[in-house]
Amino acid sequence: MRTIKFSNIALAAVCAVAFLSSSMSATAANTLDGKALYEANCAVCHGKTGEVSDYGKKLKPFPARNHRAIAQYVSRDELRRIITYGVKGTAMTPKKYSLDALEIEAVIDYIKTFDYKPDLANGKKRFKEVCSSCHGIDGRAVTGVGAKNLVYTKLGLKDIVHTMRYGRPGTLMTSKRHQLSNEDIADIANYVYSLRYMANPAKGKQLFEQNCSKCHSTPAHIKLIGNAAAKRTIADLDDRLLDLRIRHGRHVDRAGKKVEKLSSDDIQDIIAYMRTYTN
Ligand code: HEC
Ligand code: HEC
Ligand code: HEC
Repeated sequence: MRTIKFSNIALAAVCAVAFLSSSMSATAANTLDGKALYEANCAVCHGKTGEVSDYGKKLKPFPARNHRAIAQYVSRDELRRIITYGVKGTAMTPKKYSLDALEIEAVIDYIKTFDYKPDLANGKKRFKEVCSSCHGIDGRAVTGVGAKNLVYTKLGLKDIVHTMRYGRPGTLMTSKRHQLSNEDIADIANYVYSLRYMANPAKGKQLFEQNCSKCHSTPAHIKLIGNAAAKRTIADLDDRLLDLRIRHGRHVDRAGKKVEKLSSDDIQDIIAYMRTYTN
């Protein structure tokens, strides 16, 4: 009786050890404590909560940045790159010498648990101060400098944040990373996103029937005119070019004033309807 009991316990112990060692390597990142690693290696500058310590705020040439505000908007790949290689010329030195790859993943896992509640009122205020000279107070400006209408942009929140962080090389859309805090970036991005016009293809169908179907029985019947017509179809034109063609294309002579009377938002609805045919 006693021996049987003992060997059962021994067997269970052997099994447990075998289980542990076989699962160890596969889940090492999970068994690492990302929070503890963060607190030991990052908190001195970025703060325990990711909201930048007093020490981190005073760093030169640039202060440490708030992780909480961007945790949900910046990709793992980008975080991994910054943590591994650092940011040259700043106090953010490469961490690949102090943390191994799995430890870095565990730290990223921890950063990814941070959340942030955007402040749209601050986003609006900062947008007016920093962005409206090119994008317009309402975000709709399409100016001579090549700024885009942000109300009609197709970019998601993460890509808006990415555009603000890095800019578009070779254009007037420069990186705003050192002009804006991460809180401002998150607030402005959410504000920009809240301005978005959600085109309605059902309304576009109605508008098409009222204004266009007399000459184009369906969007599929529209032919492009001009040099490129042989090679291109409506599906090749992005919304902006299509909008221009509808508004100013040669057909306006024939379509007449009705096209001009349509608002920009009406045309977005019509385009959304046209896309159900062309894409
Ligand atoms: C000695 C201070 C210091 C320590 C320690 C430190 N950082 Fe940084 N970190 C900075 C500074 C300063 C910046 C801003 C660099 C810049 O302006 O581009 C930064 C930027 C970053 C960024 C980019 C943020 C952004 O908005 O672009 C990430 C991500 C980051 N750190 C992660 C970490 C992680 C993870 C650790 C710990 C493993 C860590 N940092 C440790 C000072 C520090
Ligand atoms: C000096 C003028 C200027 C300022 C100021 C400016 N932008 Fe831009 N922005 C541009 C230009 C020009 C482009 C088009 C770049 C291109 O051709 O890809 C652009 C493009 C963008 C895009 C990409 C839109 C798309 O659909 O591709 C976003 C998002 C954006 N800007 C957001 C902002 C925000 C937010 C601010 C303020 C923090 C800002 N911009 C400030 C000129 C500016
Ligand atoms: C009075 C007739 C008429 C009406 C109404 C009309 N169109 Fe056209 N449209 C034309 C003609 C003619 C062309 C030249 C190509 C062809 O023959 O199909 C054209 C061409 C186009 C093109 C290609 C433009 C280019 O520059 O290549 C688009 C896009 C278009 N129409 C969209 C619309 C939309 C959207 C409406 C409704 C808001 C509309 N049209 C209303 C007659 C009309």
